[in-house]
Amino acid sequence: AAAPTAVAAADGAPALAAPERTATPRRFLMCPPTYFDVVYAINPWMDLSVPVDNALAVAQWEALRAAYEAHGHTVDVVTPEPGLPDMVYAANGGVVVGGRALAARFTFPERQAEGPAYEAWFDAAAPAGALGEHAVNLGQAAEQNEGQGDFLLVGDLLLAGTGFRTSRAAHVEAVRRLELAAQGVTLVTLELVDPRYYHLDTALAVLDDGSVSGERTVAYLPEAFSPQSQETLRALFPDALLAAPEDAAVLGLNAVSDGRHVFLTDRATGMHARLRERGFEPVGVDLSEIFKGGGSVKCCTLELHPARTPVPEKEA
Ligand code: ARG
Repeated sequence: AAAPTAVAAADGAPALAAPERTATPRRFLMCPPTYFDVVYAINPWMDLSVPVDNALAVAQWEALRAAYEAHGHTVDVVTPEPGLPDMVYAANGGVVVGGRALAARFTFPERQAEGPAYEAWFDAAAPAGALGEHAVNLGQAAEQNEGQGDFLLVGDLLLAGTGFRTSRAAHVEAVRRLELAAQGVTLVTLELVDPRYYHLDTALAVLDDGSVSGERTVAYLPEAFSPQSQETLRALFPDALLAAPEDAAVLGLNAVSDGRHVFLTDRATGMHARLRERGFEPVGVDLSEIFKGGGSVKCCTLELHPARTPVPEKEA
């Protein structure tokens, strides 16, 4: 399905048409921004002198949820807790692979109570089937672990960020407790070096996990990674979409894709154009208020990955 077909470009030179992209239905966990505010600064985006319009944040969040549902995705909701203004960033609540859910252990004291809140949802509040057939609640991570802020599944690869929040020890713990080897998933450690891109999901977006096309596609900002991790990324994803710094700077890489539709900030206009060239359909959303806490679309979205569909073998 992903095979490109040759067409003539406007200037007469042959060009490759973008492959046809296929969306697959997803299940997401989100947390309404009922208590969202910026009252402490734990990343360079948070500015205590800029007021937050909470009512607008709620409306923008509702629009993101509606966009997911309009595209056929299921959204589960965790109850927000007073005193946890960052709980809206549900991606950080845990990491779920093949229905095995490991709740987060946060770096900063301001967010630490979110770990148990998300664990409680995995444990008792998750509707039957939300985590798939073989759901296992593993409890809270022992190591410093910020969930899908730093763990991104791309088919049979679990990309794992470190440098600011999630520790290397947490990567080792994730391999063991998520039983990645038994699931046929390989963990790849990536080192982040720019404090503005403190979570992996601010510097790298999974556009196609390869489950239908057999071809994994990611987008990333190379300079957000150490030279060694840049080399790792080049080797793993030679055809990756390399983001422009101005798109990354509006958190354009903090995106969620269903394989065809890519949900991302409407501010990342360059990214929208690059996505269209690759056959993706950008779905722009305005999250200007939630941006003030240093997060965007992906931060608000924890993907409840069910048992993995194996990536088709590539022919030699
Ligand atoms: N204020 C939050 C923090 O600094 C933002 C988290 C953004 N989430 C994400 N998945 N990148 O922890």
